[in-house]
Amino acid sequence: MLIRNVTLPGREGRVDLRVTDGVFAAIDPGLAASEGEESWDAEGRLALPPFVESHIHLDSVLTAGEPAWNQSGTLFEGIERWAERKELLTVADVKARVNRVVRQQATFGVQYIRTHVDVTDPDLTALRALLELREELADFVTLQIVAFPQEGICSFPDGRALMEKAADLGADAIGAIPHFEFTREYAVESLNFACDLAHERGLLMDVHCDEIDDEASRGLETLATRAYELGLGSRVTASHTTAMHSYNNAYFTRLLRLLRLSGINFVANPLVNTHLQGRIDTYPKRRGVTRVKELTAAGINVSFGTDDIQDPWNPLGTGNLRDVVFHGMYVTQQMGYGELCDSHRFVTHNAARTLNLGDDYGIEVGRPARFVVLDAPSWFDALNWNAPVLRSYRDGRLIARSEPAVREALF
Ligand code: FE2
Repeated sequence: MLIRNVTLPGREGRVDLRVTDGVFAAIDPGLAASEGEESWDAEGRLALPPFVESHIHLDSVLTAGEPAWNQSGTLFEGIERWAERKELLTVADVKARVNRVVRQQATFGVQYIRTHVDVTDPDLTALRALLELREELADFVTLQIVAFPQEGICSFPDGRALMEKAADLGADAIGAIPHFEFTREYAVESLNFACDLAHERGLLMDVHCDEIDDEASRGLETLATRAYELGLGSRVTASHTTAMHSYNNAYFTRLLRLLRLSGINFVANPLVNTHLQGRIDTYPKRRGVTRVKELTAAGINVSFGTDDIQDPWNPLGTGNLRDVVFHGMYVTQQMGYGELCDSHRFVTHNAARTLNLGDDYGIEVGRPARFVVLDAPSWFDALNWNAPVLRSYRDGRLIARSEPAVREALF
């Protein structure tokens, strides 16, 4: 198969992509189609590696308002509303909602999803559903499952045993939620437990870390220290870290050295955290998004995630990662032309690093032919005009498509 005349970010001129047996066989200008070879002219449109959703809660998608809406807009009322909905979960219910959202995200060019799954449920219903879907959908999307203790590890009955059970059943990563634990001691203990479990089992880690406006919430320093001491490094991710928005600069400057040493990744969720944070402030109201600009400048890997779609923590959302980047660049004040041109990285290469996708990811000869073609000549235009993903290919197979949008003024 030959995809002719695509534009690649950072590369001058148009190139052709030849795909043989599901792998990029050649990437060069002016390749000639051989006899009978399927060919499509992209007419200079932008090709990118597939989008990577580095943080979402698929188990709760499409449950907003069931049985009640989150009226205060706080994280903590969201956890209460979800605890009520969690009682009603069945494997069939979870699978039906996740199947809808995964296909929706596929039309936006997403082929990799790291989902947190609440394991503070004695039956582990959502986890069982997601484990089945990981297999059923593997040809179309790579699902990575984080065992996420929504109501705590030390503060929830049998919390430790549920985490171990989730690892036994096949979770890809271990989570934690230090800011929700009853005490600071429990927060530290839960992080030590989670790090040891990930280390023993050879699993990835992704912690909901300091998702609160409390400047005294400092789970991150414990997580980064343990990651450093155990040599877990880039296998560990600190998600949200919204308290960092409120840290004093002296503390943050000292912390930054440790974060660099540890090699851990960060995920910011700009849509949901500008919605949830600052809710108890009068004025000024904090934005509550972690220090993306400073972490990036320090050479630390940061990606952006959706977090929630139409659930107790976000009443809106479609799963289009362009919306996350668009909002994220505004709220983190990364609006320089070069920053905007490069901003797809928060949901492509940086997010691939967060997921530890390794050398299988990217448009390069010898790698799996997984890529998307957007209806725009550049990422700057795609971002600005919300350009649709016209085609999404996985191992050379077309798995999702959309038509160019038609808009015209009739005067
Ligand atoms: Fe989250």
